[in-house]
This record gives sequence, structure tokens and C-alpha cells, in this order.
Amino acid sequence: MENCRTCEAVDYHEIIDCIVSALDARDSYTAGHSQRVSDMALVICDLIGLKEADKEKIHIAAHLHDIGKIGIPDAVLLKVGKLNNEEWETIKKHPKIGAEILSKSQHLSELKDIVLYHHERFDGKGYPVGLKGAMIPIGARIIAICDSIDAMLSNRCYRKAHDLQFCYQEIKKNLNIMYDPIVGKYVLEHWDIVTKQYQKNKVCENRAELKRCC
Ligand SMILES: [Fe+2]
Ligand SMILES: [Fe+2]
Repeated sequence: MENCRTCEAVDYHEIIDCIVSALDARDSYTAGHSQRVSDMALVICDLIGLKEADKEKIHIAAHLHDIGKIGIPDAVLLKVGKLNNEEWETIKKHPKIGAEILSKSQHLSELKDIVLYHHERFDGKGYPVGLKGAMIPIGARIIAICDSIDAMLSNRCYRKAHDLQFCYQEIKKNLNIMYDPIVGKYVLEHWDIVTKQYQKNKVCENRAELKRCC
């Protein structure tokens, strides 16, 4: 039987773009966030000296880390303002939803654990399962730091973006608590390189983000 031409022509990166744009269509705030986290993760992978294959895997997982938010209701996902406890519990389901989505694809399922554990903490007090230390995949430990840096350096509806110095101190303070100390050491030692994209007056870049700043 002849192979399907469409299947042969499909490019892996094209599929990723397609999936990510489905989430962007729901919440354009996530678009900028995932891109920045992904760029930063790649820089950290280089600093640590990870193999090309691992770098590629972590880079793509970073693009997709919040894909599970596609399964979160609008009332919570698009809420302007702080979430209450119940809403917070709802949003905490996104790593599991994301991992379930990726498990449907033979290629992407190898990324599912990175996505599932990107909100775990080094001290075991994160979610969804409370995985600790080196039990957390290295990709998830890298994304966790990038995720926090981007959150701190972005405006929120309830606060303005923190400055780079504040962010640096928070990462330092939370080594061994929230973050992997080895990954964190690389980040802090190369702070200017890791946070390069935030140094040129990074402010709200898209309308959704602006809306959330009000
Ligand atoms: Fe997330
Ligand atoms: Fe995120």
C-alpha cells in the first residue's frame, strides 16, 4: 500500500505550532508566555551543556508546558483578577490535562512527564503529585525556573511586573525549596544571558496581557 503523502509531508515543528496555536486562540496571554519560557529553557539547556536530543525535547515541552489550559473553563482561564481557592484548584489540573493530550501522540508522549511535572517543587511541595528533587525530570526542573522568572517579570492584574533584581533574589532564596540548586546556580551565574529578553523594557506585549494589567 502506498504511504499517505500528507503524513510524509508533515513536519514535527508544524504540528507543535498547530497545537500551540489552538491554545493561543483561547488565551493569547499564554502565547507570549510559552514562547518566552521556551526561549529561556533553550538558553539554560545550552549553559548546562545538555545533549542536542534532550535540548530539543525540553524546548518543545516548554512550548507546550501549559497546553492543558485548553481544558480549563473560560470563567477561570480568562478571569481578570485573582483566583479564589476553587478556581485555583481548577487551574492546577492543567499539567495533568496537558500530559493526557500529549499521550495521544506517539511522538509527543515522550514529553508528557515534563509537562505533567512542571509545577512540582524541589522540596516535594508542588503539584500534581509532590515529586521531589531528582525524581522530577530535568526538563520540568528547568521549565519551573523559567516559568517563575517569566511570571515575576510580567505584569499581573493585581500587581506590576517585578524588576530583575527582585526576581534574582527570589530565585536565589528558593534554591532547594522550589528550584533545583544546580539548575538555579547556572541561571544565577549567567543571569544577564538568561534574562536577556526582559532587559529591553519588556512590558505587556499583547492585548490580552494589557487587559490583565488593568
Ligand atoms: Fe503551568
Ligand atoms: Fe507556564
